[in-house]
Amino acid sequence: MRVGFLGTGEITAAMVRGLKGQGHRILVSPRNAAMAATLAAEVPEVAIAPNEQVVEGSDVVFLCLLARVAAEVLPSLPFRAGQSVISVMVDAPLATLRTLCAPATDIAITIPLPPITTGGCPLPVYPASPALDALFGEKNLILPQPFEAALNAHLGASALCSPILDQLLTATEWLAGHTGNPAAAEAYIAAMIRGYLPERAAEGDLAEALKKLSTEGGLNATLRAAMAPAKESLRQGLTAFHSRLGLDDPKGRT
Ligand SMILES: NC(=O)c1ccc[n+]([C@@H]2O[C@H](COP(=O)([O-])OP(=O)(O)OC[C@H]3O[C@@H](n4cnc5c(N)ncnc54)[C@H](OP(=O)(O)O)[C@@H]3O)[C@@H](O)[C@H]2O)c1
Repeated sequence: MRVGFLGTGEITAAMVRGLKGQGHRILVSPRNAAMAATLAAEVPEVAIAPNEQVVEGSDVVFLCLLARVAAEVLPSLPFRAGQSVISVMVDAPLATLRTLCAPATDIAITIPLPPITTGGCPLPVYPASPALDALFGEKNLILPQPFEAALNAHLGASALCSPILDQLLTATEWLAGHTGNPAAAEAYIAAMIRGYLPERAAEGDLAEALKKLSTEGGLNATLRAAMAPAKESLRQGLTAFHSRLGLDDPKGRT
């Protein structure tokens, strides 16, 4: 497949590395120049081309720009009817993308995360995208969403990674402060958390894992009680996304 990427930043790098060695022809735009050069050196299938040629020469175009840049750049690019467009951008709803990428109509939004490089990345998508399935379905978990607001709610939930990693780093620093070995502390925390997360969780798995960590008076239950206010902070932080992600409008559930 001929695959193009507009915007060659962190998330493009992760996706391009995830496509390496599968026989695709990959075009990336020259910005960011250093990242484009790194990818071209690292992934033999990659060539660098101006934005126009990325769109002209691709069956599938990934939009990996900031939304405000996309609004300036996309209208002048030669999108075609019949071409697949997949946006990974926050703040760029489908209605806007349809205008910016006309006459292309096969337009989907997904949420890749950096682990897509190695596979196993959950990929919520709306609407369903055969192109996304073909490119990333084998190694990742494609999660088709029934309506756009459901996809947007996954965008909000995806922001959980950063505060959780922040908490893990705080605990790592505390541990290393007592052992004097930061590398071993990080290895311990990462392996411990990984061990609690099923590869493909079904409903109830997380609650079950938590139940096993609830011995009355135990260290787990004691620390959880001390951190209870963080739970409310998390709810508030997610609720604060509602307006930005279009989650207040009940008509979004269609
Ligand atoms: N990072 C993630 O984990 C992640 C995950 C899911 C979704 N996203 C979304 O993906 C999008 C990109 O995020 P990112 O983290 O990859 O950001 P990023 O590293 O800043 O990448 C954005 C890229 O766009 C380039 N760019 C700017 N103007 C351009 C133009 N006119 N033509 C072509 N390229 C241009 C920038 O180049 P210069 O550096 O030269 O300005 C930069 O390389 C955002 O909308 C973000 O919300 C990111």
